[in-house]
Amino acid sequence: MTLAEPPTPSALVDLGLLLRNADRMRAVAAGAGVVLRPHVKTHKSPRIARIQHAGRPGPITVSTLAEAEAFAAAGFEDITYAVPIEPGKIVRALLLCRKIRLTLDLDGPEAAGALACAAAKESLRVPVLLEVDCGDHRCGVEPESAESVELARRVADSSGLDFRGLLTHAGHSYAATSKESVRRIAGEERTAVVSLAERLRAGGLEVSTVSVGSTPTMTHFESLDGVTEIRPGNYVFFDAFQASHGSCAWEDCAMTVLSAVVHRSEERIVLDAGAIALSKDEGPRDLDPSCGFGRVLDLEGSDTGLRISKLTQEHGEVALPSGFDASRFPPGARVRILPNHSCLTAAQHAEYLVLEGGEIVDRWPTIRGW
Ligand SMILES: Cc1ncc(COP(=O)(O)O)c(C=O)c1O
Repeated sequence: MTLAEPPTPSALVDLGLLLRNADRMRAVAAGAGVVLRPHVKTHKSPRIARIQHAGRPGPITVSTLAEAEAFAAAGFEDITYAVPIEPGKIVRALLLCRKIRLTLDLDGPEAAGALACAAAKESLRVPVLLEVDCGDHRCGVEPESAESVELARRVADSSGLDFRGLLTHAGHSYAATSKESVRRIAGEERTAVVSLAERLRAGGLEVSTVSVGSTPTMTHFESLDGVTEIRPGNYVFFDAFQASHGSCAWEDCAMTVLSAVVHRSEERIVLDAGAIALSKDEGPRDLDPSCGFGRVLDLEGSDTGLRISKLTQEHGEVALPSGFDASRFPPGARVRILPNHSCLTAAQHAEYLVLEGGEIVDRWPTIRGW
């Protein structure tokens, strides 16, 4: 099938670029001597997760229990659910803990108490990581605080819990606008968990997992000394944000949305990919105020220079620069859109059309819901 045939909008994945991105991060992990535990929320596809592990169902990170359940059903047996578990999800999580190695994330005493009780009642010993805040200020304990040590000790002393170590995510690397500042944040990400791990070990606790990772920091880190595993996710697709911020080249971006022109006038063309098919992520606006909501590429993947200027639910408007010859974009003409944030865009699509040599060679379903 060529790109003239599939329904629009559709998510496209360029197989060659995907394989290259996956190989590169595997080489980064191997070079640093750490386990690669990719975050699969980026693609929600067991096929892609296997590619990230050279064909095997290796260790992965998820951000929903629906992902954990579906990847477990697809043969993945070592999964970290990297969102603090809240009491309402414990029963469901424990069902999966009976089948595979599901590591849970804790960052406070209330959920720790509820999980310890529920696990002990079921005679389970659930692997747990303590989430640490390395500067993102989303979730996690303060690495320098006395509470972080107390919580780790409490988890380690609970018969239903198996304290495995520490996890952090430098989400604030997304606000950095230079490689130097990403490098500094990668240093903070590492130091937050490595130094807390040292304090815990000094207090007699065993800390076997020290887990870090975001795509920007895993692209620009200086050292991973003391780290045992990395959890980048976005790198397998990349997107306009990552290319603008220097995590990749534009030619590395592997995921696009196939879309058709539904309307053309002197001033604009309108596409059938709107906010649902693309997401309203503002992407690299801090570095490139004219980035719009995505780059309009031709079917070969070359930049047309056009940007999505406005989004409504199912319409993507492209304001045309004055004098732009839009004769090649009559209604029905097809383009590809490079999204600002591939993870959010991909999450809207039920399948990927796999592109190789200009042809659709496969379709890979994705996991939906929570
Ligand atoms: C806890 C956690 N780990 C890892 C990642 C992967 O980071 P990235 O998407 O930058 O690769 C994320 C992404 O949000 C995350 O929330």
